[in-house]
Amino acid sequence: MCGIIGYIGSERVVPILMEGLSRLEYRGYDSAGIATLQDGELFRLRQVGKVRDLACALQDDDSDATIGIGHTRWATHGAPTRENAHPHLDCSGDIALIHNGIIENYLVLRDELLEAGHTFRSQTDTEVLAHLIEHYFDGDLLAAVTAAVRRAEGAFALAVLCSRTPDRLVAARRGSPLVVGHSSTGHFIASDIPALLGKANSVVFLADDELAELTRDTVRFIDCDGVELHPPSHRVSADQVSIQKGGYRHFMLKEIHEQDRSIGETVREKMCHEGEDVTQSPFFSVCKRIAPFNHIYLIACGTAYHASLTAEYMWERILNMPIQSMIASEFRMRAAHLSEKSLVIAVSQSGETIDTLMALRRAKSAGAQVIALVNNEQSTIDREADVSVYTHAGIEIGVAATKTFTAQIAALGLLGLHLGLDHLSQADIQAEFGRLALLPGRINESLQKEDDIRTIAEGLHHARDVLFLARGELYPIALEGALKLKEISYIHAEGYPAGEMKHGPIALIDEKTPVVFLLSRGIAFEKVLSNMEEVRARNGQIIAVTDAPDDPAVKRLANAIIPVPNVEGISRPILFTIPLQLLAYHAAVWRGTDVDQPRNLAKTVTVE
Ligand code: F6R
Repeated sequence: MCGIIGYIGSERVVPILMEGLSRLEYRGYDSAGIATLQDGELFRLRQVGKVRDLACALQDDDSDATIGIGHTRWATHGAPTRENAHPHLDCSGDIALIHNGIIENYLVLRDELLEAGHTFRSQTDTEVLAHLIEHYFDGDLLAAVTAAVRRAEGAFALAVLCSRTPDRLVAARRGSPLVVGHSSTGHFIASDIPALLGKANSVVFLADDELAELTRDTVRFIDCDGVELHPPSHRVSADQVSIQKGGYRHFMLKEIHEQDRSIGETVREKMCHEGEDVTQSPFFSVCKRIAPFNHIYLIACGTAYHASLTAEYMWERILNMPIQSMIASEFRMRAAHLSEKSLVIAVSQSGETIDTLMALRRAKSAGAQVIALVNNEQSTIDREADVSVYTHAGIEIGVAATKTFTAQIAALGLLGLHLGLDHLSQADIQAEFGRLALLPGRINESLQKEDDIRTIAEGLHHARDVLFLARGELYPIALEGALKLKEISYIHAEGYPAGEMKHGPIALIDEKTPVVFLLSRGIAFEKVLSNMEEVRARNGQIIAVTDAPDDPAVKRLANAIIPVPNVEGISRPILFTIPLQLLAYHAAVWRGTDVDQPRNLAKTVTVE
C-alpha cells in the first residue's frame, strides 16, 4: 500500500519520479505527490486522483531539480484529499516526508507535538513524522530521522528531504518494504524493484530498523543505534517486458495470457527429466533442507489463501498428517499448536503482505520451521523464511492476481509431491510430471475459448449477485472465481461449497442470479449435478464450467457451458481457473471498470 520513490544524482528528477510513480501505482492510487529541491527551495505538488492527474498538473514543469521524492497513496488515515496526500511538511516548510505504513502511536505523538506548538494540516498519521523530525533537527537530517523513528511505533518505509541539507535524502524502514538502488548517475529509493527497472543496476534491501543516507556520490547505512552497516547489494535483471502491456488492453489480460509461460517456468526447475529419478532434480535438494515435521499450516491472504486451500485438498491425499490452511490475519488470533515439529508455509506473491509476514514471525518465534512460497525473490518473507520455494511467474502488475495464483498452485502441487514422496509410486510421480509438461499447451487451448467467455460475461455483467459453487479441490477455485469477479467488476459474488448451498445461499437464487458451477467428472460429479438441478428448479441461470461439456444432463441443465480440458492432478484446478479469470475480466470490461486498478484495492497490502 502506497508507493514511494526518491532520487538524488545528476539527472532531472521529475521525470524519474513520475515514471517510478506510474510503475508503483498498483500499490495505491487515490492521490499522488512529489517534492523536489532546487537552489535551496523546496517545491511540492500534490493531486487527488491517479498519477496521470499529477502528470497533467506537472505538464509545464521544466525544473532542473536533481533531488526529489514522490508518493502514490492508498488512504488509511484521512480521506483521499489534497491535504492528506504526501509529501507532508513540517511547520517551517523545510522538511518534506513520504511514508508507506501506519504510525500506530501517532495520536500520542501528535498530542505531544501540539503541546510543543506544532501545527497540523492533515488528518494523517504520517504528518507526525515530519513534525517529529523537525523537533529533533539540529542540522543533521540523518540524526533527526533516526531519533524520530526510534519514537515511532508501527510500520513504515519513509523518505525525507530538507531544504537546509539540500544534498541529502534520508530513508528508513520498519515493516514496510524499501530498496535503495544505484546507477551510474545517482541513487534511488523505492518501495520495490519494478519501480527502478531500467534505472538502477543494483539494489540493497533495507531491513527493519535500518536507515540510509543518500548523497550524490555516497550511500551510508546505519541502524537505529547509529551503528554503520554494510548490507549486500544485488544485481537487478533487466526484465522490462513484464512491465509493458505488450499490445493487450490491460495488464490483467496480458497476465492471464502469459500463464502457459509462467506455469512452464514455475514447474521446470521442480521436475526431473524423463527416465530420471525424482531425487535428481534441483528442487529435491531444496526440499531435503526441510527438517522432519508432523503437521502443516499454510498461511496466506486473499488469492494466495485460495492457492493454499487448494494445496490443503491436494496434499491431504498424499501426506498422512494434519494440514490446515489459514488466513494469515486469523492465524495470529488462533491458538495454533506450534512447535519445532510444525511446518508453516507462508504463501505470498509479493512476499511483503504484512499479515502473512507477521504470521510467519509468530510461527518462527514458536520454534516452527517456515517455508516461503513467493514470487518476489528477496522480499521480506523470502528473506525471513528457513527455506524458500519460488513461483517464476514474472512481475505481476494487474492488481488482481492471475498468473501468480496458478503458479502458486503448480508450485504447491509439486512441493506436496516432494514432501509425500514416501507415499507415492514412481509411476504416480511420472504421470504427474507428464501432465504438467503438457499443461502450458492445455492452458493455451483454454484461452482459445475467450470469445465465447466474453459473450457469456456480457450476459452476466448486469447481475447484482453471482454464486460460484463447487466441491472438493475445486471449491477453493470457486472462491477465487468469486473474488476475481467482485474485486474488478464490483458485482457481489460468493464462492460456496456446492453441498452447502442448501444450508443458506439457496435463498439468494432466482431468475436474476447467475450461478457458476465448477463441475468435474473426477469430483462428485453426480452430486454437483443434483445441486444444479436444485438451482434450475428455482429458475437460477447456470453457467457450467466443466470437463464434461457433452454430458446430456449438463447440456439440459446449463444455460451456458464453458468446456475445460479433462485432466487429473495438479493441472485440474489450474485449468478450471483460466475461464473464471476471463469471465471476471470480461464482465469488468463490459461494466467499464478500471480493471488494472480497481477501486479501494492495492496490490501489496503492507498495513494490518
Ligand atoms: C486478489 C489479490 C489479493 C492478494 C493478497 C495477498 O486478486 O491479489 O487478494 O492475493 O493481498 O497478496 P500476496 O500474495 O502478495 O501476499
